[in-house]
Amino acid sequence: MSTRTAVVTGASSGIGEATARELAKQGYHVYIGARRVDRLERLAAEIGGTALPLDVTDDASVEAFAAAIEHANVLVNNAGGAKGLAPVAQADLDDWRWMWETNVLGTLRVTKALLPKLIASGDGLIVTITSVAAFEAYENGSGYTSAKHAQAVLHRTLRTELLGQPVRLTEIAPGAVETEFSLVRFGGDAERAAKVYEGIDNLVADDIAEIVGFVASRPPHVNLDQIIVKPRDQAAAGRFHRR
Ligand SMILES: NC(=O)c1ccc[n+]([C@@H]2O[C@H](COP(=O)([O-])OP(=O)(O)OC[C@H]3O[C@@H](n4cnc5c(N)ncnc54)[C@H](OP(=O)(O)O)[C@@H]3O)[C@@H](O)[C@H]2O)c1
Repeated sequence: MSTRTAVVTGASSGIGEATARELAKQGYHVYIGARRVDRLERLAAEIGGTALPLDVTDDASVEAFAAAIEHANVLVNNAGGAKGLAPVAQADLDDWRWMWETNVLGTLRVTKALLPKLIASGDGLIVTITSVAAFEAYENGSGYTSAKHAQAVLHRTLRTELLGQPVRLTEIAPGAVETEFSLVRFGGDAERAAKVYEGIDNLVADDIAEIVGFVASRPPHVNLDQIIVKPRDQAAAGRFHRR
C-alpha cells in the first residue's frame, strides 16, 4: 500500500487531536482512537481519517483497535493524563491505578499490539508523549510523576531493544500545555483547572503537534531520541513565572 498511515491514541482532545490534524496535513491516513467516539467521528470526517473506539486500559479494546488497522508507519502514544494532586501520605490508590493503567500499561498494550505492523512497514516510528514529569519529581505529584517515569522507561527500553529494526523512537516531554489535562486531573473543576494556566504564556496543543510533524518528516536514518519542550515561562515542572 502506498499511503503512509499513522495511529494516534487519545485523539479526542488536546495534543492527540492536534497531532492527528498535523499528520493528516502531511498526507498520512490517520487512525484515531479514544473513548469519546462522537468527538473522534467529527475529527475523522474533517481530516479524512478513521475513527476507532479505544480504551487503552482494556485488553479486548486494544486488541480490536489494532486488528482494525491494516498497516502502520507511525504510532503516537498520546493517551494519558493525571488524576488528583496529593501528598504520598494521602495518596488515593484509585487515582494511582487510573494513572498507571492509562499512561503505563496503556502505552504497553498499544505498543505491543502494533509493534509487528510498525516493524513490517520497513520504516516505523513510535512517538511517546511523556512529560517533564518523566524527568522530575514534584510535591503532591507522585502518582503522575511515577507513572510518567515508568512510561518513559518503557519507551527508552524499547529504543535499545529495537536497535537493528526499521523503527525509530522519539520521546516528547512537554511542560505546561493548555488542554483538558487539568480539567481531567481535577475531576471537572473548571475553576481549579484554569488556575494552573493563569498568568503564563502556555504551550498549546498545536505546538506539540508541530513537533510530532517535524519528527515524522525527518528521513528514516534520523532518530530524535528525546525532546523536552516547555513554555518560556516555565523553568521546571513546578517553577513558573506568572504575570
Ligand atoms: N497538557 C499538559 O500540560 C501535558 C504536559 C505533558 C504531558 N502531557 C501528556 O500529553 C498527553 C495528552 O494530554 P492532553 O494534554 O492532550 O490532555 P487531554 O486534552 O485531557 O487529552 C487526553 C486524551 O487521552 C485520552 N484518554 C484518556 N484515557 C484514555 C483511555 N483509557 N483510553 C483511550 N484514550 C484515553 C482522552 O480521550 P477520551 O477521554 O475520549 O478517552 C483524550 O483524548 C497525555 O499523555 C498527558 O499526560 C500533557
